[in-house]
Amino acid sequence: MTSFAEYQHRRQQFMEKIGTGTAIFKSAAMAVMHNDVEYAFRQDSDFFYLTGFNEADAVAVFAPHHEEHRFILFVQPKDPEKETWSGYRVGVDQAKAVYGADEAYPIAELDEKLPQYLQKADRIYYRFGRDIGFNHQVIRHWQQLLRVYPKNGTGPIAIQDVGTILHPFRLVKSQSELALMRRAAEISVKAHNHAREFTRPGLCEYEIQAEIEYIFQSQGGTAAYPSIVASGANACILHYIENQRQMQSGELLLIDAGCSYQYYNADITRTFPVDGRFTPEQKIIYELVLQAQVAAIEQIKPENPYQQVHETAVRVLVEGLLDLGLLTGDIEEVIKEEKYKPFYMHRTGHWLGLDVHDVGVYQWGEDPQPLWPGQVLTVEPGIYIGPGIQPIEGQPAVDPRWHGIGVRIEDDVLVTETGYEVLTAGVPKAVAAMER
Ligand code: GLY
Ligand code: MN
Ligand code: MN
Repeated sequence: MTSFAEYQHRRQQFMEKIGTGTAIFKSAAMAVMHNDVEYAFRQDSDFFYLTGFNEADAVAVFAPHHEEHRFILFVQPKDPEKETWSGYRVGVDQAKAVYGADEAYPIAELDEKLPQYLQKADRIYYRFGRDIGFNHQVIRHWQQLLRVYPKNGTGPIAIQDVGTILHPFRLVKSQSELALMRRAAEISVKAHNHAREFTRPGLCEYEIQAEIEYIFQSQGGTAAYPSIVASGANACILHYIENQRQMQSGELLLIDAGCSYQYYNADITRTFPVDGRFTPEQKIIYELVLQAQVAAIEQIKPENPYQQVHETAVRVLVEGLLDLGLLTGDIEEVIKEEKYKPFYMHRTGHWLGLDVHDVGVYQWGEDPQPLWPGQVLTVEPGIYIGPGIQPIEGQPAVDPRWHGIGVRIEDDVLVTETGYEVLTAGVPKAVAAMER
């Protein structure tokens, strides 16, 4: 659990950065399926990071320059009848007492109360999102203030994306965030190890999915994203989530599944033979991906550019594909012209945290984003040789003996003061451990 003091600290740091501006955050919407069935609610990550407040239909405002109220919450008021249908509400009074807001109002009063927190701000910090109605509401307030700007000479003259201020904080994880990420990783490790031991020919992909998600759920977590359980050539479909196929002897199984625990995520991929034995071709490709993944992870240490992780993986994969004759030509040219893309078409990883594809910049124009202690990233190279693979012009046709092999290996890695720590190291990945 994240402590009250930590939320306060986050708000303090954030408000120091916005200074004379006012920031507005909208909660996530309550997802409603037709016929009135509600999906589980999941708070917006920025909103949650600063407030810990876990309800829909709420707005958080930060106005560090305001004389009385710096942190203001607009929430759904207590309503016993509505709460009977859709669950407990914190209510206006508790929003102050429990969540530390300096002032709280019913959400219905937003239009009336918001202007007092905007009129002395020099800019509005807001992220335009999927809630078009709310985007317009913010713009409407801004336009009203612009209209009186000539008279007052004060008020916001710009809207700036709030992510530019907040996301650098989210990119570096605190000790309490890391504790939750370690827990998410630990549950995911357990699920992957069980899935590998449970897998055998004749089972269906969804049976493996059920075993994995049972472990997530029974440990207080949920699936961080739709689990990918992809056997045979399905492993070459990057977002395969149907998970309907019956697994056969001689095939590989690629599992990309991670647990979300108290909003923090893990994201692990392993690929292993369904019957416990790699074919020679599968083993060659697996070893190459593993070599690329290990080399990429070894690049992780403070001040190394993020980009170097991807570039290292690409170089190892391309060298291997050239050696195997699956690609031809000069290595520098193959890399520069991305001739490897039919085999490896995605990035080697992403930031990980409150979101699976977490916030944070990867590259500043030509300048690198240096790695920094406390960042967590995935490292997930792969090779995908779908039956319909189309080599780039001038490259050789792929011998059918390679067809249908898809391998990805993904771990979650923390940047430490001196290098890295693999948070998901509890799932083996050596060739010998994948076989039985
Ligand atoms: N499972 C989503 C990803 O690996 O990025
Ligand atoms: Mn993944
Ligand atoms: Mn990933």
